[in-house]
Amino acid sequence: MIVEQNFTLTNGLRLKNRIVKAATSETMGDRNGNPTTALFNLYRNLAEGGTGLIISGNVMVERSARGEFGNVVVDQDSNIELLTSWAKSVENHGSHFLLQLNHPGRQAPKTLNSKPVAPSAIAMTGPNAFAFNPPRALKIMEIKEIVQKFAQAAELAETAGFSGVEIHAAHGYLLNQFLSPAVNRRHDQYGGSLANRMRIVIEIYEAIRARTRSNFTVAIKLNAADFTPNGFMAEESLKVMQELAKRGIDLIEISGGSYENPKMMGNGQGATFIEYARMAKQTVDTPIIVTGGFRTAEGIKTALSSGDTDLIGLARPLILQPDLPEKLINGKMQPVKLHHFSTGWSWLDHRVGSLIGLAYYEQQMARLANGKPIKQPRTAWPILLEAVEEQGLQALIPRRR
Ligand SMILES: Cc1cc2nc3c(=O)[nH]c(=O)nc-3n(C[C@H](O)[C@H](O)[C@H](O)COP(=O)(O)O)c2cc1C
Repeated sequence: MIVEQNFTLTNGLRLKNRIVKAATSETMGDRNGNPTTALFNLYRNLAEGGTGLIISGNVMVERSARGEFGNVVVDQDSNIELLTSWAKSVENHGSHFLLQLNHPGRQAPKTLNSKPVAPSAIAMTGPNAFAFNPPRALKIMEIKEIVQKFAQAAELAETAGFSGVEIHAAHGYLLNQFLSPAVNRRHDQYGGSLANRMRIVIEIYEAIRARTRSNFTVAIKLNAADFTPNGFMAEESLKVMQELAKRGIDLIEISGGSYENPKMMGNGQGATFIEYARMAKQTVDTPIIVTGGFRTAEGIKTALSSGDTDLIGLARPLILQPDLPEKLINGKMQPVKLHHFSTGWSWLDHRVGSLIGLAYYEQQMARLANGKPIKQPRTAWPILLEAVEEQGLQALIPRRR
C-alpha cells in the first residue's frame, strides 16, 4: 500500500507517509498575532496522529491585512520564541511542518479592514459581498513591499524551525486575485498577460529563495481553476505550475474555487480535483498534493496507486480524527462522514450555512487543543451559540476559507 511509503522531496525532506494535513485556519492567535499554547497543543495532537506533513492554517504576512480575528501574523514584530514553540510542536513529533503564508487582498472583511487592497478596484460579488468593503488597487511600490513581506515571513519561519512555507495562491485571496483575469484588470507589468498576472507569485517565490537556505521547502497552494466567469482557468494554472517547476518549487498543492464559489469544500462526490492533479502530474515533475473530498481508504489508495498524485491532502477528516493516518495504515479506517448542520429553516441555512461549517471545525480544533472529544450536535444552533459566545455578533459575519 503506497500510503505508508515514505516520500522524499528533491531537497531531501523526508515525509514518513503520503498523508498531508491541509491548512485549516484555527483563529487561535493572540491579540498581537502570536501563536498560543492552544495552537501548540492542537498541532502536537495532529502530529501524534501520524500525518507525514502538516500545513498550518493561513498566517498573515501583513499586520494591517488580516483575513480573520485570531489570525497569526508573521512579521518583524512577531515573537520568535513562540513561533519556535509552534514549529517544535510538530517537528519534534515525527512530522514536518509548513507555515502557510497569506495576504487576503479584497477578501478581508470590513470589520477587520475598512480599506482592503487588491490588484484592481473590483469589489466582491455574491450574497456575502456586503461583508467586504470595495478594495483599492495596489500601487507598484506596495506590490514590491508585499513580495518582501512574504519573503520576510519565510525567513522568520526558517529561523523558528519550520521545514518550510506554503504560499497561499488559491481560494480567492490576494495572489489568486492577481492570477484571475476577472479581478486583475491592471495595465502595468502585474496585469494583462498570464506572464504579468503571475509575476507577483514568481517574485514572491524568488524572494523567498533568496532569503532562505536551499533546502528550505517552498510549496504553493494553487487553484486548478476558480470556477467563476472569466476567472483563472486550468490551462493557465498548468502554465503557472510549469514556471514554478522550472524554478525549482518543491511541492504543489491543488485546490480550487474562492469565496464566490467555494468549490474547495466539495460536493460530497469524492476527490474534487483529482483530474486536475492528473493533468498536473502529466505537465510537471514537481510532487503534487491534491486536497479536497477524500473520505474513504479506497479513494485515497486509488488516487495514490493510479499515480495521479503523490500526496493526499486532508483537512476536515483530520480535525475529526487526527489518528486517521494510523487507522488508514492499519487497515482500520472507516469512511468519514461530514455532518451537515441545519438550523431547521432552509432560508437561514442558505444564509449562514457555510459559516456554520467553518465555525463547527474551528470549535472542534479548539476542543482538540484542550484534549476534549469531538462534538456532533444534532442541529446548527449550539454551533451558532458557541460562536457568538466566543466572538460576539461578529461571528455571524460571513467569512472566507
Ligand atoms: C475551518 C476551515 C478552515 C480552512 N482554512 C484554510 C486555510 O487557512 N488555508 C487554506 O488553504 N485552506 C483552508 N481551508 C480549506 C482546506 O484546506 C481544504 O482545501 C478544504 O477543507 C477541502 O478539504 P477536505 O475536503 O479534506 O476538508 C479551510 C477549511 C476549513 C473547513
